[in-house]
Amino acid sequence: MAFATRQFVRAASSDAATAAAKKLLIKHVTIIGGGLMGAGIAQVAAASGHTVVLVDQSDEILKKSTKGIEESLKRVTKKKFADKPEAGDEFIKKTLKNLTTSTDAASVVHSTDLVIEAIVENLDVKNQLFKTLDKFAPEHTIFASNTSSLQITQMANATTRQDRFGGLHFFNPVPMMKLVEVIKTPMTSQKTFESLVAFSKAVGKSPVSCKDTPGFIVNRLLVPYMMEAVRLFERGDASKEDIDVAMKLGAGYPMGPFELLDYVGLDTSKYIIDGWHSLEPNNPLFAPSPLLNKLVEEKKLGKKTGEGFYKYK
Ligand code: NAI
Repeated sequence: MAFATRQFVRAASSDAATAAAKKLLIKHVTIIGGGLMGAGIAQVAAASGHTVVLVDQSDEILKKSTKGIEESLKRVTKKKFADKPEAGDEFIKKTLKNLTTSTDAASVVHSTDLVIEAIVENLDVKNQLFKTLDKFAPEHTIFASNTSSLQITQMANATTRQDRFGGLHFFNPVPMMKLVEVIKTPMTSQKTFESLVAFSKAVGKSPVSCKDTPGFIVNRLLVPYMMEAVRLFERGDASKEDIDVAMKLGAGYPMGPFELLDYVGLDTSKYIIDGWHSLEPNNPLFAPSPLLNKLVEEKKLGKKTGEGFYKYK
């Protein structure tokens, strides 16, 4: 019996060692880009007990990011700790203590477990950043991009750590949206993938896995759907108002495709579809739309400019 117990203990501890070897425990995270997405990711990572450094180009931008995080934390706390305001204050204090900022990415990645990039959607700029950080980050550090439309593989190839590189695609607004798409390139190691899945769960999200294919899962289905709606309207088959009503009442979607396009930004949608069209010019799902192009040219970009498919003034 004693022998059997010893065998069991040995087996259990070797199981634990194997599990530990299978993934990296991510404690310290560096997030590059303190805009809409980066600030949201920093918030959920800090709130779940990770130490976080948020990096952007200027202290002024970082001040704005931190203020946004504080305000968002207050909103979250009001709901989460509705009848325990003191615990809520403590939660905010603890979260903010986990968060620092910097304008110099290279000088803060020396002890980080994970770098999440959420800067401008431009492959050359992202590649330059990853190439630089590759020289300063420790060997074990995993790099991940939050890109919506660029190839993770191309970014991984700008570094020498292709096996420790993947995609972590969060959704806007990050504190509210439960999904994270974890993207595995052909070079991403299983250990890296599992570490990214575990990190996504640790920040309270529900991860799904996808290969490095244009749009991953959500945008691959959503963007062609929105473009089909524009084409339906362009052909004069139905009005944009009726298409929106139809998809809300007939398909149960919370927003119609034109409302969604205006919310996302017509420039962003055009940028995504143009990028995919250049990758797969013969794919009719990725065909550009003259109407969308015209609205972008006229700077009617959606809600953010006061007019897109609809007027918001
Ligand atoms: P944003 O424009 O709000 O923020 C980008 C931030 O990056 C800015 O504060 C900018 O100053 C900073 N930045 C630019 N270059 C930098 C550099 N070299 N070093 C440090 N900071 C730099 O953009 P957003 O919307 O947060 O998007 C960021 C990324 O997340 C993009 O790749 C985008 O495709 C992706 N994404 C965006 C979503 C959205 O709904 N906005 C959803 C999911 C992913």
